[in-house]
Amino acid sequence: MTKKITFLGIETSCDETAASVIRENDKGTADVLSNIVSSQISEHKKFGGVVPELAARAHIENIEYIIKAALGECKVSLNEIDGIAATAGPGLIVCLTVGLNIGKSIAAFTNKPFVAVNHLEGHALSPGIENNIQFPYLLLLISGGHSQFLIVKDVNEYEQLGTTIDDALGEAFDKTAKMLDLGYPGGPSVEKASKLGDKNFFTLPEPIINKAGCNLSFAGLKTAVLRESKKINGNDKLKFNLAASFQNTINKILYKKTKIAVEMFKKKINTPNINLVVAGGVAANISIRENLKKLSREIGFKTVYPDLKFCGDNAAMIAWAGIKRFKKNLLNKIDVEAKSRWALDENAPYMKGPGLKL
Ligand code: KG4
Ligand code: ZN
Repeated sequence: MTKKITFLGIETSCDETAASVIRENDKGTADVLSNIVSSQISEHKKFGGVVPELAARAHIENIEYIIKAALGECKVSLNEIDGIAATAGPGLIVCLTVGLNIGKSIAAFTNKPFVAVNHLEGHALSPGIENNIQFPYLLLLISGGHSQFLIVKDVNEYEQLGTTIDDALGEAFDKTAKMLDLGYPGGPSVEKASKLGDKNFFTLPEPIINKAGCNLSFAGLKTAVLRESKKINGNDKLKFNLAASFQNTINKILYKKTKIAVEMFKKKINTPNINLVVAGGVAANISIRENLKKLSREIGFKTVYPDLKFCGDNAAMIAWAGIKRFKKNLLNKIDVEAKSRWALDENAPYMKGPGLKL
């Protein structure tokens, strides 16, 4: 029997301080021995968004306790760990540095292998924690900072099919929540409010819906929500109608663009079994899940969604990416530095800024 690899994962790229211990199992997936996430929601709530300096300070205050709690909960000692993985980017440098440095220090003092994980690879591989899913698969990665369609060919091998040319989808949810005064964090509160409204009440734009392949755009939609929000004047019914119309518009955009992405995937990859993985914080949105499930039944592919606890930022996905990279000998030296930008497909064109031609 081959030895089952156990990793400690650490995540501090944004406003969650997280640590996790996971171990490979016989099913080709992982046993999550502990998965501790300390959210800083209360700290950032009054500002309506993440304040980098506050986030970094909170990571510094919490990280030691969170790592000890992750190890303590499953009674695994550092001696029993085969390696340490920490998020090294993309994200806020002041935040990333906290988890990365403590991860590197633990690795250095215990003489264990170290893996610097791309946070996006953590999301991309996250369904593998619980599903023995085969490469290649199509990934819709929707989070607070990114919105992309990618072919996941293998660990460390990604091909970008499309990306947002302006805002990320999570950002659109968060800004909509702010404009509708629904509170922070935005995504879950917009989802909740949308259930109380009429999704056809407002007609909102679907930017670049008929062009630019499976690239996405949400800035024009956000501006339209701002314009319509001026009509609310304290009327809750109108507020819920606007939240519902926003959610419905997102569903229409993702339905159409995912259909295009599946076609693009089919042209590049010859397989009868197409899996679409939807990962990242926004993948927790049930309405988006159901909408894409409907598309999957219509055009014949399978949807795979990570469990809700692995959608938002967590360290189990970082530990899992660490194990996958360790097994391919993709290790890092202790002088590896945090990166604020880090694309999964480094050959993909940069799709933002003035002068962009679609
Ligand atoms: O992956 P994540 O936790 O952090 C980043 O890597 O960015 O994603 C956070 C984003 C936030 O914008 C949050 O509002 C959004 O995911 N989100 C949701 C839902 N839950 C979280 N958006 C829509 N519906 C949800 N239920
Ligand atoms: Zn994330």
